[in-house]
Amino acid sequence: MGWWKVNELRLRLWLPWMIMVAAGLLTYGYYQFLDPQNCANIFFGCSIISFTPNFTPNASPLPPPPTPSLNVTTFLYNDTRRIAVCLVGGARMFEITGRTIRKNLLDAYPNTDVFLHSPLDKDSHKLTLLAGRNLRAARIFTPTPIPETRITTEVITSWGSPAGLQGLLQYFNLVEGCYGMVKQYEVRHHIKYDWIIRTRVDGYWSHPIPNITDLDPKFYYVAAGSDFRGLNDRFGMGNAHASRAANSRLSLLPLMHQRGLRGLNSESAYKAQLEVSQVPYHRIQVPFCVMTLRKMAHPPPPYGLLLLSMASKGPMSGTYCRPCEKEANATYSAAIVDGCMRNWDWPGIGGSEVTVCDGREPWAENWREVAEKVYKKDIGEEIRSFNETRGMEACVSEMREFEMMWEVWDSPPAETICKRALSKK
Ligand SMILES: *[C@@H]1O[C@H](CO)[C@@H](O)[C@H](O)[C@H]1NC(C)=O
Ligand SMILES: *[C@@H]1O[C@H](CO)[C@@H](O)[C@H](O)[C@H]1NC(C)=O
Ligand SMILES: *[C@@H]1O[C@H](CO)[C@@H](O)[C@H](O)[C@H]1NC(C)=O
Ligand SMILES: *[C@@H]1O[C@H](CO)[C@@H](O)[C@H](O)[C@H]1NC(C)=O
Ligand SMILES: *[C@@H]1O[C@H](CO)[C@@H](O)[C@H](O)[C@H]1NC(C)=O
Repeated sequence: MGWWKVNELRLRLWLPWMIMVAAGLLTYGYYQFLDPQNCANIFFGCSIISFTPNFTPNASPLPPPPTPSLNVTTFLYNDTRRIAVCLVGGARMFEITGRTIRKNLLDAYPNTDVFLHSPLDKDSHKLTLLAGRNLRAARIFTPTPIPETRITTEVITSWGSPAGLQGLLQYFNLVEGCYGMVKQYEVRHHIKYDWIIRTRVDGYWSHPIPNITDLDPKFYYVAAGSDFRGLNDRFGMGNAHASRAANSRLSLLPLMHQRGLRGLNSESAYKAQLEVSQVPYHRIQVPFCVMTLRKMAHPPPPYGLLLLSMASKGPMSGTYCRPCEKEANATYSAAIVDGCMRNWDWPGIGGSEVTVCDGREPWAENWREVAEKVYKKDIGEEIRSFNETRGMEACVSEMREFEMMWEVWDSPPAETICKRALSKK
C-alpha cells in the first residue's frame, strides 16, 4: 500500500521538505476548532493515487419543480426507497445554506428522514430554516474534549492545524454520532434505510442531489475532487454496510492502527476506512459547495486550497466557495482549475464549469446582495434573514415551533439556544 509510516521515515531526506511544507501550512492557518473544514492539514499519510473518475452522471440534474414552503406534494424523483440524511456541523452559514439543503436534498425524494448533529453555538438558532415535514432526530450539544489516545495520535496526524488533532476528532465525532442516531432510529422503528447520506450543514446546494436510480448500492459514493491525497470527506452516501465503514470515523481507528496506518489526514483516513472495510467506492459530482469565511491565497499555490464563486455552474462537489464579487475571468479561472493538482485541490470537474474566486480579502460588505442574485436564480426564493433586533421572546417562540417538528429533540431548550444567539458568543 505504501502508506507512510513513522518507522520508515528517512528523516534526512524528508526534513527540508517537511519544514517548507509546515511553514506554508501554518501560514494559511487552515484549521479552526470545531469548524469541520477539514482539509489540507497535513501532507504525509498515504500513497499518491491518481484520480480515476469511475462514474460520470449522464447529465446535470434538472431543476426541481417549484414547491410550497412546507407541504411538499411533488418530488423531483419518483423513488420511494428509504433515505436517511445526516446533517453535521455548525450552522454559521445557515441563512444561505439552510433552504438550499431543504429544497435540493431533503425534499428531492418522498421517503427521506432527517437527522441533525450539531455543536451548540451562537448560530444554532438559524437551524429553524430546516423546518419541514420529515425531521426525525436532532442532537445539538455542548462539545467536550475527546480523549487523545496513543492510537489516535499515531494514526491521525495533527500537523499544520492549530486546533490539531482535537479539531479532527470533534469532526469525526459529529459524523459518527449522527450515524449512531440513524441506527438508533432504525432499531426503535424496526426499519432499515436503503441509503444513508451524510453531508454538512454549511453546504450550499445549487441543484438537486443525484438520482439514486443511477447509483449502484454495491458502492459507497463520495464527492469527486478535493481529494487531498485521500477521498473528499465532505459528502458520502451508500447502503447500511458501506455507510457503517464510512461513518465509523473514530471506532475504526484501532483497526487502522493494527494495520500499520500512521500519520493520516482526514481525507486519507476516510479512504483507509473504506479500504480496511473492503468497501468499494466511486467518486461522483455533487452539486454543492462548502461556504467558508476564510481568506485564501489567489491564485492558490501548490498544496493550497481552491476557492470558487458560489455562482459557479458546477457541480462543485463540496469545494470551498463564497458569495464572490471578485470572480476570475473565464480564461484565467479555467487555467487555475485545470492547473490544480489532481490528487489535492482539483474540484473534480473541468475548469470551464466552475468560476474561481479571488478571496484574498474578507467577504465584501455587500455579500448579501451578491449572494441574493445567485440564490434567486438557483432556489427561486429570497435569502431569509434573521431580525437582528429580534428579542428573546420572538426567538424562543420560533425555536419552540421548530422543536415541535422533530420526533426526537435531544437538544437544549429553546431558551438556551436563544440566549447564545442573543449574547453573540
Ligand atoms: C400543511 O398541511 C397541513 C395538513 O394538511 C395543514 O394543516 C397546514 O396548514 C399546511 N401548511 C402549509 C404551509 O400549507
Ligand atoms: C432517474 O433515473 C431514472 C432511471 O434512469 C429515470 O427513469 C428517471 O427519469 C430519473 N429521474 C429524474 C428526475 O431525472
Ligand atoms: C413511479 O415509478 C413507478 C415505476 O417506474 C411507476 O409505476 C409509477 O407510476 C410512478 N409514479 C409516479 C407518480 O410517477
Ligand atoms: C483575465 O485575467 C487575467 C489575470 O487577472 C488577465 O491577465 C487577463 O488579461 C484577463 N483576460 C481578459 C480577457 O480579461
Ligand atoms: C425586528 O424585531 C423588532 C423587535 O422585536 C421589531 O420591533 C421589528 O419590527 C422587527 N423587524 C422586522 C423587519 O421584522
